[in-house]
Order: sequence, then C-alpha cells, then structure tokens
Amino acid sequence: MRQPLVAGNWKMNGSRASVFELLTGIREGVKTVPGVEVLVCPPYIYIPEVQGQLHGAPVSWGGQDLSLQESGAYTGEVSGPMLVDFGCSYVIVGHSERRSYHVESDEQVAAKFAAALQSGLTPILCVGETLEQREQNTTEEVVARQLNAVIELCGIAMLGMGVIAYEPVWAIGTGKTATPEQAQDVHGFIRGMLAQQDSAVAEKIRILYGGSMKPSNAAELIGKPDIDGGLIGGASLKAEDFIGICQAANN
Ligand code: PGA
Repeated sequence: MRQPLVAGNWKMNGSRASVFELLTGIREGVKTVPGVEVLVCPPYIYIPEVQGQLHGAPVSWGGQDLSLQESGAYTGEVSGPMLVDFGCSYVIVGHSERRSYHVESDEQVAAKFAAALQSGLTPILCVGETLEQREQNTTEEVVARQLNAVIELCGIAMLGMGVIAYEPVWAIGTGKTATPEQAQDVHGFIRGMLAQQDSAVAEKIRILYGGSMKPSNAAELIGKPDIDGGLIGGASLKAEDFIGICQAANN
C-alpha cells in the first residue's frame, strides 16, 4: 500500500505574514488527515520560518530546486546539504518552470536527482508534456525520455528512492486539469514502464499528479489506481484548499 503524499509547491509566492497564516492553518488542518503524508515546498528564504513554525507537526518541508554543487562560488544557488541543514527532507527537481525558464535539460535534471539523493533528500522528479507534444501524440515518448535520463544516470533502484510527479505542462496554473482518465493513462504508462525493469520499484514508487488540482477534483484524481497524491501549486497557498486536497487523499 502506498501512502498518499500531498505536496504544496508554493513557487515564488508569499510574505512573512502570509506564510505565518498559511502554516497556522496547515498545522491545524493536518490533524484531520492522519493517513496522508503532507509536505510544503516554500521559497528558500522562508524555510527557516517554516522549520520554526512546523516544529513537532506531522508536516515535512523541502526545497523547490537545488544546486548541482555542494558549495563554492555559485552565486545565487542553494545546495542539498544547506536544505538538509534546515530540516528539509524533500526537494523538487525538473519542474517544468525550471525546465523552460532556466533551460534545464533532462541530463541536468537527472544530475540534480542524484545530487538530492547524495545529500539525503528525497527528490520529487517532475515529468510531463507540453500541449503541443500532447497534440502530436508524443506524451509517452516525452515522459519516457525524461524518466530514462534519470535511470541512465542513477539506475532504476535509485529512481525508486524518489517520487515522480506527472505534471502535464498545459494543466499547470491554467485551471485546465487533466481528466482523471487522461492522468491515469499516463500514470499507468509510467508504472508499466518501470515494471519492465524492476517490478518492486514500480509497485512501491509514488506517482503524484500535478496541474490545477483543487479540492473539487482531487478525490476523483487520487481515486485512480496509479495516482498516489498531488503536487499542488496555486491551491497550496490557501490552507483551506490545501487541507481540502489532503482530506480527499485521506479517504
Ligand atoms: P498548479 O501548479 O497546481 O498551480 O497548476 C502545479 C505545479 O506546478 O506544481
């Protein structure tokens, strides 16, 4: 049985005041979802606040990205060991916004996946196709390529130490959610592809859905056999919505 994971990706949002309010709501709400693993990924600068405020609560926190390097002359970067130093247990790698705005290649994302594991963090590997790729019927090809880059560098066993998030780019922040069937098709494809290499990894690994997930559509999505939770952007910024999604995953 895979425990559902609901992860909030705050992206570049928040202020000290709004973070305080959001965490207060999450601390309270998480009591209602004992079956779900709950995670928040704030902007780096708020991580110490999050660590302080979530102390003792059953909520984990993590980064939205990490440097390939451990330390040194890399202006603006934050490393895996630094995240660990502030109590992070997870880190997102290969989010489509990093892949597009920061031109991160599949190989760089794979190297970040390895760097995360090396630091003792659990990487959440984002994969997913653009609208154009979906229309060209290359969704499976794109997702397989993104996954294979990690398998080639790290091996299937190491991939199995992470989490996968399937995030169709056309559904991110657009309000356009993949239908539960569309999402399940790709989740099933991913699990099947991994099963060809290692059935134990395929069975164990959690595959989250991300892209305009909200309380009103979460239950149907997470109810699908291969959808093990969500990576939530916009709806993770309001405690009520985020906890609503956690509650859908708790059933
Ligand atoms: P969204 O973002 O929920 O706002 O669509 C999801 C994500 O980018 O992780």
